[in-house]
Amino acid sequence: MAVVILGIESSCDDTGAAVIRDGILLSNVLASQKVHEEYGGVVPELASRAHQQNIVPVVDTALKRAGVDKSELSAVAFTRGPGLLGSLLVGTSFAKGLSLGLRIPMVDVNHLHGHVLSHFVREKEDDPVPEFPFICLLISGGNSQIILVNGYNDMKVLGQTIDDAAGEAFDKCAKVMGLPYPGGPHIDRLAAEGDPTRFKFAKPRIPGLDYSFSGLKTSFLYTLRDAIRTNPDFIEENKADLAASLQATIIEILLDKLRKAVKQTGVRTVAIGGGVSANSGVRAAIEEYCLKNSLTPFIPKRSFTTDNAAMVAMAGYFKYLNREFCPYDAAPYARVTI
Ligand code: KG4
Repeated sequence: MAVVILGIESSCDDTGAAVIRDGILLSNVLASQKVHEEYGGVVPELASRAHQQNIVPVVDTALKRAGVDKSELSAVAFTRGPGLLGSLLVGTSFAKGLSLGLRIPMVDVNHLHGHVLSHFVREKEDDPVPEFPFICLLISGGNSQIILVNGYNDMKVLGQTIDDAAGEAFDKCAKVMGLPYPGGPHIDRLAAEGDPTRFKFAKPRIPGLDYSFSGLKTSFLYTLRDAIRTNPDFIEENKADLAASLQATIIEILLDKLRKAVKQTGVRTVAIGGGVSANSGVRAAIEEYCLKNSLTPFIPKRSFTTDNAAMVAMAGYFKYLNREFCPYDAAPYARVTI
């Protein structure tokens, strides 16, 4: 019998639902929340309320687009953490209700596993998927990690940020430039027209495979502060060069540690995931690095980089095959590692 999994994602400010049949994606629906834009960041209470409004129509649309009736579902997978507790609670409670009502098992998914396993989401039978082991550079608004992936449920963090995540570095610097939230995509757009060598910002000297982005953020801030003193229009006049130079520095920091990880492990396949892996410069740099070093790159489709339910359904599918189900007293968790 076919295994049909409904995945639910509600860890931050996007409500997602996706349906996977025997590992093939049938539908992937996402409702993004615009309500946070005017606050310059996600407001947790508003996010939870928007999830409550979105979740029924989003799940309904995902089932309809997949052409699947809820009676055909084998299990419901949901993001249990990490994320905003109120937001996670909406997805978790909905999954419990559906599981009880339909008498099907429930599978809890670690959001970070989801990002890593997004590379296994196939839209057609012959879509390529990575072979184990591979290295995954997980770069999002909340995480920057280098992960050694030995199996669907066997992942080891080799290095991670000791302060800000890569996405935070993009967003916070963008905010200083007066760009809307989240700033990452705006920096990406502006960087395409700028000179990446024009400005030099501080790069961290952290031993091992750990990252740090807070020094870069401070150096960006000081550059702007000093320049604005003599020219109040400095940001407006130089925004493309500022964006390009910032993006280039973030990419250099990311690649420096990735190179070390590849050297240390001898692993020949490199994947990227998380919101920042949507960045054009990051994608091009990884492709180029892999090409030059005869490594196999896995660059996800842009719709699978930021939060989405397809990856949750996929991670849930693997756990379902292992019969790893979740009890009804499961509570969401705000923080968890791989
Ligand atoms: O994985 P994700 O959707 O969720 C969280 O971590 O919450 O990542 C969101 C992050 C934000 O920091 C956003 O600015 C960044 O991904 N991002 C980008 C781009 N698209 C999204 N950063 C740089 N360039 C992009 N094109």
